[in-house]
Amino acid sequence: MRFHRIGRDVSVLNDQLPVPGVGFLAVNAFVLHAAEPVVVDTGLGLPDRNFVESLGSIVDPKDVRWIWLTHPDRDHTGGIFALLDAAPHARIVTTFVGAGIMSTERPLPLDRVYLLNPGQSLDVGDRKLTGFRPPLFDNPATVGFYDDRSGVCFSSDCFGSPMPTSDLAGAPDVREAPDDAVRNGQLLWAAIDSPWVHNVDRAKYLETVKPLRSMAPTAFLSTHLPPAVGQHTEFLDMLAAAPEADPFVGPDQRAMEELLASFEPVTAAS
Ligand SMILES: [Fe+2]
Ligand SMILES: [Fe+2]
Repeated sequence: MRFHRIGRDVSVLNDQLPVPGVGFLAVNAFVLHAAEPVVVDTGLGLPDRNFVESLGSIVDPKDVRWIWLTHPDRDHTGGIFALLDAAPHARIVTTFVGAGIMSTERPLPLDRVYLLNPGQSLDVGDRKLTGFRPPLFDNPATVGFYDDRSGVCFSSDCFGSPMPTSDLAGAPDVREAPDDAVRNGQLLWAAIDSPWVHNVDRAKYLETVKPLRSMAPTAFLSTHLPPAVGQHTEFLDMLAAAPEADPFVGPDQRAMEELLASFEPVTAAS
């Protein structure tokens, strides 16, 4: 886990996954240092990860008041139950559908849930967080949000991109990567994560980009991209181009075996 600070208000908890043949995918959670501290998503649930322990180096879990689950995909729910235990004053912000999806594996305690739909706002003491549905998403419970004090937009999976190296996936600023690597990676991610984008009514889809244009955030913080400050124009252009991007077809069994055979054999340590 790597940690970054974005301005005064946001800490990034950066983890990542290697994706064979594709690159390295950041898996970010965040802490919004509001008067009522907000944890945004809860990381991977792999056995060697301990989200609450990592979080403890940023904020005392006992002080956390809100856990904003941008969507209940398993790359973002890893630490959720341990955090509920460690943060007795925290409630989980999600939707009716989000709580329902969670209930298929382990139900959330309903008295710890706060249901919020796109367009609704949450007062966290010193600022208002307004939920919105990002133009690209892979889960029907997805709700990102805009912080009216810092001007930061938390975009959930939208704007994600695999990176060519592990260091870039963990970078403190997406501008460390070449522009074309980011744009091509974002278009690839759009095709992987939101394959429906190739089939939508173009005009209706572009309507969903408009709220981001008027939001004009200072930064986009995606679950799957290094922090992006001042990338507003480039990112909205990318969204507009996503329907035309090449559809993604994953490797089949034969291609996967060829890919694995091309890797260096692992030799036992002597
Ligand atoms: Fe997702
Ligand atoms: Fe994700």
